[in-house]
Amino acid sequence: MTPTAAYSLRRRLLAWLLISTAVIGVVAMADTWNEAVDTANEVSDRVLAGSALAIAERVIVSEDGSLEVDIPYVALEMLTSAAQDRVFYRVDGPPGNFITGYQNLPSLARREGQAAAFGNAIFRGEPIRVAALARSASTGIRSVPFLVTVAETTMARQQLTRTILLRSALRLLFMMAGAAVIVWVAVTLSLRPLYRFSEAIAERSPDDLHPIDQQVPSEVQGLVETVNSFMVRLEGALDALRHFTGNASHQLRTPLAIIRTQLALANRAGTLEEARQAARKADEAVADAERLLAQLLLMARIDAATRAASMQQVDLVSLARSATADHVPQAADAGIDLGFEGEGEVQVMAEPLLLGELLKNLIANALLYAGSGAEVTVRILRPGDAAVLEVEDDGPGIPAEKRAAVLARFERGGRADASGTGLGLPIVEEIARLHGARLALLEGNAGRGLKVQVAFAPADNGPVPQLAR
Ligand SMILES: Nc1ncnc2c1ncn2[C@@H]1O[C@H](COP(=O)(O)OP(=O)(O)OP(=O)(O)O)[C@@H](O)[C@H]1O
Ligand SMILES: [Mg+2]
Repeated sequence: MTPTAAYSLRRRLLAWLLISTAVIGVVAMADTWNEAVDTANEVSDRVLAGSALAIAERVIVSEDGSLEVDIPYVALEMLTSAAQDRVFYRVDGPPGNFITGYQNLPSLARREGQAAAFGNAIFRGEPIRVAALARSASTGIRSVPFLVTVAETTMARQQLTRTILLRSALRLLFMMAGAAVIVWVAVTLSLRPLYRFSEAIAERSPDDLHPIDQQVPSEVQGLVETVNSFMVRLEGALDALRHFTGNASHQLRTPLAIIRTQLALANRAGTLEEARQAARKADEAVADAERLLAQLLLMARIDAATRAASMQQVDLVSLARSATADHVPQAADAGIDLGFEGEGEVQVMAEPLLLGELLKNLIANALLYAGSGAEVTVRILRPGDAAVLEVEDDGPGIPAEKRAAVLARFERGGRADASGTGLGLPIVEEIARLHGARLALLEGNAGRGLKVQVAFAPADNGPVPQLAR
């Protein structure tokens, strides 16, 4: 059974790490793009400003007070040499007084100062970068302001941007590819112990339930310990099952053999009476087998209940009283005086069906083994706030040294001729254990017979009461 939506840890790790590497890469790339544009602009702007300054230095005031300029074409060549860019300029005198250059060239607002101002514009349908430098020329008597505007198309700086970007992008891609390889190798290596662990389990034969002895990372240590402790428990459960089925099939063989023998006898019987007798014996054997199967099924039910116990509040007095009443006809047939002692209500946490089976087994034992003329008492006591169930008889009882033995499965003693499976008391013990109750086999109050005591923990889950033995 695979859990739904299984996913690969490796794939998930790789996805997370690679996606974050890619995201970081994209962010770094955007940053590089900005940087490249800035750097290219800065470099080109400096050259542009240099040309404007070279022109400004050639502006002089003529004798009639007008401005004259002798354009130093070398200054403009500085620009054109870079690429196929085209260069434009204009020189303006005081506002509204165009002196030379391209009259339509857009300029920038006049700002008197040391540094040139820069801006972007469109000229003749092409994007241009504009630098404007405001200065004034002086004759010594008067000073005339002028504005030098130099512009160039942006091909060179775009080319520069592209070159810077391409180089950094290549470097970045190379680094990301390196990071991806490192991530891949690191994830694969880190997960290797997990693969080895699952291989170690897969290679095992189904009955090899020894603990796994594998070096694993501390994060998986808990998982390995859980698996190991599960295997130990599984081994225990399998042992118990093997033991139990072995015993059970052995026990069933006896009644089946009897049935077979008796049927053969009936087949060969000379008289009807002989045939009837054989049939009767076969019928008894069938009843035995039936009882054995019922007890085995009950045991299986206790095992299941142990896993999902459906405990509820049960009144022990009324449950015991009705179980006693159920057995009165059987007691009368056996010549036994069956009685009940108990008053009021005694609430315990219990599984009512299983508790009924416990009572049924104890009463049946008493009726079967105490012998005709005996007295059997089912009793509910309340020492303190605890609850104690007793089934007592004044029959032959079980000798103290044999009491532990009869609690083992299939262990029978005393009147071994009476039909029985040897599962009754083990079932009683299992049910008591399931209820957290203490089971004790004692001598009857009159110094004879058997008294079986089941002491339940008080409802608040306190300690199980210790009773005098
Ligand atoms: N009240 C009793 N008095 C004397 N001996 C008893 C009493 N109860 C049980 N025993 C002895 O203990 C043995 C085991 O009892 P247990 O109930 O486990 O098995 P069983 O009665 O033989 O078979 P089952 O109850 O499964 O049909 C019995 O065979 C019997 O010898
Ligand atoms: Mg019994």
